[in-house]
Amino acid sequence: MSTTTQETHKRFATAKRLNGIGEYYFSQKLREIDELNKQGKNIINLGIGSPDLPPHPDVIRVLQDESAKPNVHAYQSYKGSPILRKAISDWYSKWYDVEINPDTEILPLIGSKEGIMHICMTYLDEGDGALVPNPGYPTYRSAVKLAGGICIDYDLKEENNWQPNINALAALDLSKVKLMFINYPHMPTGQLPDVEVLKQLVDFAKEHNILLVHDNPYSFILNEDPQSLLSIDGAKEVVLELNSLSKSQNMAGWRIGMLVAAKERIDEVLRFKSNMDSGMFLPVQLAAAKALGLDKSWYDSINAIYKERRTKVFELLDQLNCGYSKSQVGMFIWAKIPAKYKDGYELSDEVLYNSNVFITPGGIFGSEGNRFIRVSLCGSIEKFEEAIKRVVSNKF
Ligand SMILES: Cc1ncc(COP(=O)(O)O)c(C=O)c1O
Repeated sequence: MSTTTQETHKRFATAKRLNGIGEYYFSQKLREIDELNKQGKNIINLGIGSPDLPPHPDVIRVLQDESAKPNVHAYQSYKGSPILRKAISDWYSKWYDVEINPDTEILPLIGSKEGIMHICMTYLDEGDGALVPNPGYPTYRSAVKLAGGICIDYDLKEENNWQPNINALAALDLSKVKLMFINYPHMPTGQLPDVEVLKQLVDFAKEHNILLVHDNPYSFILNEDPQSLLSIDGAKEVVLELNSLSKSQNMAGWRIGMLVAAKERIDEVLRFKSNMDSGMFLPVQLAAAKALGLDKSWYDSINAIYKERRTKVFELLDQLNCGYSKSQVGMFIWAKIPAKYKDGYELSDEVLYNSNVFITPGGIFGSEGNRFIRVSLCGSIEKFEEAIKRVVSNKF
């Protein structure tokens, strides 16, 4: 490092809370893919779970009509529009059979990802513990660390259907643990929730005074029976549930999520969040309300497309000699790599550099994902066919 660079580093040193926090894996990888594309590689990206399909046309129409009005451009309430909160409450009642009070038990979010951070900032003091799934969504880990907390991994294993081992959890030193993150349908493994395990987790959380944060963005994708953790008797005492319109309504870029929990929890998280942002654009909230009112034919229509794509992804994985469960749900397929590879990173790099196809290595979700890869279903059939063609021509 040159003297000037060293001096600049000292002068503008980043806060200690960023120690050990790297740039988000995908943001780094997308830069590398951009570079490869600039060299003319035309990489097929099967990595990120961002729906490529548009929202329902009625949703877009509401955004257009509402944003043309003169009186919708002011700051909005920190607690969100009553119309959106009512739509969320009705959505929970209709699809999850869960009754929630629209005035007190719902907090609309600018995407569920920010909710993960807000929860950590609201509840974790320096040195407090949070149980995080391995493999699991990397944001739980970084949000816990950024808030000053300590991540305690709990392993999810294929032989245990990617469900937590409650006995192993109970055997841990839980004295400093305040939060536990769970996520079913699980990303990245596509595992459905097991109601018996959910009940045990609620009991476990009650017994040890742990807040159970259920991150639930995938319940409608390739799944006929959406479940909320709040449908478990007595869950509201300890559960905060995050949900999202990113995946099920094809609205990832719109940034709309929600936190659903007891009034006390909503008020606590709002104390933090109201200091971070100033509400959401009203037309976006009204369009989100429209999206939540869509009927079953909407979910059927997107799932018909994902089913067709899934068949192609199975074909691609067969070409790569990977193993997978056909009963996975959600927006990805999780697959075990052949024994000849050191880990999923090696397979991912080989496919990227030899076939110009990017597939996510499972290790980015934690060490338990090291022997796996994850393929996103967010691409057209033609894209998957082209990926298969490229991989076949390399004879994996
Ligand atoms: C498990 C999980 N939780 C949360 C999110 C973030 O969703 P949102 O777009 O609502 O912030 C994602 C997105 O990839 C996810 O996979």
